[in-house]
Amino acid sequence: MRPLVIVKLGGSAITIKDKPFTPNIQTIEEVSRQVSELRGEYLFILVHGGGSYGHVVASEYRIAEGFFHPDQLIGLTKVKLRMNELTHLILASLASYNVPAVPVTPVSCLTCSSGKVEKFFTEPLRMMLNLGIVPLLPGDVAMDYSEKRFTIVSGDQIAARLAVELNAIKLIYGTDVDGVFTGDPKHDPGVSLIPRLTRSMAKNLRASITAGDVTGGIFKKVEEGFSAAEKGVRVIIGNLVKPGALISIVREEAGAMYTTLEP
Ligand code: IPE
Repeated sequence: MRPLVIVKLGGSAITIKDKPFTPNIQTIEEVSRQVSELRGEYLFILVHGGGSYGHVVASEYRIAEGFFHPDQLIGLTKVKLRMNELTHLILASLASYNVPAVPVTPVSCLTCSSGKVEKFFTEPLRMMLNLGIVPLLPGDVAMDYSEKRFTIVSGDQIAARLAVELNAIKLIYGTDVDGVFTGDPKHDPGVSLIPRLTRSMAKNLRASITAGDVTGGIFKKVEEGFSAAEKGVRVIIGNLVKPGALISIVREEAGAMYTTLEP
């Protein structure tokens, strides 16, 4: 069987983060094209984030905090409606490149406890992979056994969990910057890319990296990534907005810019 690569399509790459409900169609199309090109060599699972779709509504109804008021329940519906829109756009784009993807909705196949994925019914995913199908999963609302009763499960967490459970050779976190920098590359031109990030370096950086969205921004990503890296998955954070970048990251081409997590 071809080796499995899991790609998390970060909300910052596939949506325009500061424009509510606006997709970055160019990136979605370019990712689809590259997946279709790489599919002969690798199996893929694609996980996508919320960006300017899911996070806006999830924050409005404070879904990640768990259940504290019945008025939040319609918020679950509204998060699903928005995330479904984004899933649909990605699915349609993949189909246009002849990639046989099937959307899988995490809320119906996993349960959480205190915001962490506990049980994950992965059998349908394994069966899809055996057929060469590309499962497509969004970050999602999820039911939670703790007093929270529901939560938001990030695409980052889903991707890391699946990478370990399904023995992926690579887990790629795609964002709109080249990887993890010594500071904020969007606001400080003096920062530099960290090609190999260790846990202790990440710990030191934590103070300077601010968590931006309901599921915690880049630091959460790094943390989820290390949980998979420690179990033997090669974890790479890179820029999916650049044309051709997914291919150069998957193949780890010389000269390609990205950050690898070194457990
Ligand atoms: C969030 O997923 C999903 C919802 C808000 C429903 P992520 O946390 O993985 O999304 P991004 O990639 O950071 O936007």
